[in-house]
Amino acid sequence: MSELLIKGGRVIDPSNGINGIFDLLLIDGLVVQVAEDMKSETATVIDATGKWVTPGLIDIHTHLREPGYEYKETIATGSMAAVAGGFTSIACMANTNPVNDNAEVTRLIIETAKREAVANIYVIGAVTKGLNGKQLADIGDMKEAGIVALSDDGKCVGALSVMRSAMEYAGMFGLPIIEHAEDPGLSLGTVMNEGFTSLKLGLPGNPTASEEVIVSRDAVLAGYLDVHIHIAHVSSKGAVRAIREAKERGVRITAEAAPHHFSITDETCDNFNTMAKVAPPLRTDEDVAAIREGLADGTIDCIATDHAPHAVNEKELEFELAAFGISGLETAVPLSLALAREGVMSEEKLIETMTCAPAGIIGIDRGTLSEGAVADVTIIDPNSEWTVDPENFASKGRNTPFAGWRVKGRAVMTIVKGKIVYEC
Ligand code: DOR
Repeated sequence: MSELLIKGGRVIDPSNGINGIFDLLLIDGLVVQVAEDMKSETATVIDATGKWVTPGLIDIHTHLREPGYEYKETIATGSMAAVAGGFTSIACMANTNPVNDNAEVTRLIIETAKREAVANIYVIGAVTKGLNGKQLADIGDMKEAGIVALSDDGKCVGALSVMRSAMEYAGMFGLPIIEHAEDPGLSLGTVMNEGFTSLKLGLPGNPTASEEVIVSRDAVLAGYLDVHIHIAHVSSKGAVRAIREAKERGVRITAEAAPHHFSITDETCDNFNTMAKVAPPLRTDEDVAAIREGLADGTIDCIATDHAPHAVNEKELEFELAAFGISGLETAVPLSLALAREGVMSEEKLIETMTCAPAGIIGIDRGTLSEGAVADVTIIDPNSEWTVDPENFASKGRNTPFAGWRVKGRAVMTIVKGKIVYEC
């Protein structure tokens, strides 16, 4: 029998409205109780005084790169990066090689994860074959094999007729579609936000309209078909507005924001800094403010990293040739905690956006410390100050615009199914 008694921490479990100093008892991989002053003769005791004890954090947007791009990341290294960043569960995107557009690939990922991953891995299947935007992937077969959502992430489902069929199938199988909202026409050939910095650098700019038109379009279609659409990595004020209005109309729309989109702007691309090249692009102060407001008022439901690891030689290139993406799992906690510290939202609301809210979007029974729940727990030191050094990342991806940042807050212990898988 394995027993862990986490004592004296501030337990924040928004799924149960808990926020106070409590002990947490875990036995044999399950949550037994959250209560005051618990004692046990047999448990290993963990002192969590001064720390937050939360349900294991969940990231519904991760690129694990296996199969096919193991030089960027593997299921093993990506899962180690997850737990080092405080995430006990991650959902991996379909833009692998081969693309996860059929049950064989889905099963391969699930089997590899069972053998090699230290975090819980959930799998997202492609909407279309080879992400080609034309022919639907094997949605029913992949659902049977275990996928939790559909996405062509990295690419937008451009054709409305294809999106309509995808939504109808997704609805039948109870799967959300996660949209990478960038209009293929408006974003074609662009490499950063369209604005002062793109003009100054002479780089082709991506207008915010490219996101807003797709969000608006998808919201209309999802409302018409009464299905669940989820908007990935919201980057612009217009998209936040479109999601808010759709929610007011009763559309089943949810959304996520990535830490880089609420922490930095397109000015970070100055001096042709390829570490800040990401899709959708970093925008302006006004967009950052709108995303923060959207998270605070619930328009944006959750935080997701869009962890997109790349090799050094894929970033050390001319800006226009460099890969899009930021390795985000290991910087998400401090960047997100800043939202609570800066008064954007309460600490409970923040933890909700990283636990039960993302769990609800992909329909997994995680993100809670309810009695009998799987014992996935994150212990966070909100006051720990540290300097981001990508050389210390567990991820193979060292591509971050936050290198050298002095940040506050980190996961100091990550527990998956009752087992301590990370400690620092
Ligand atoms: O910047 C990005 N990189 N955005 C995406 O949506 C895809 C990702 C990747 O796969 O590298």
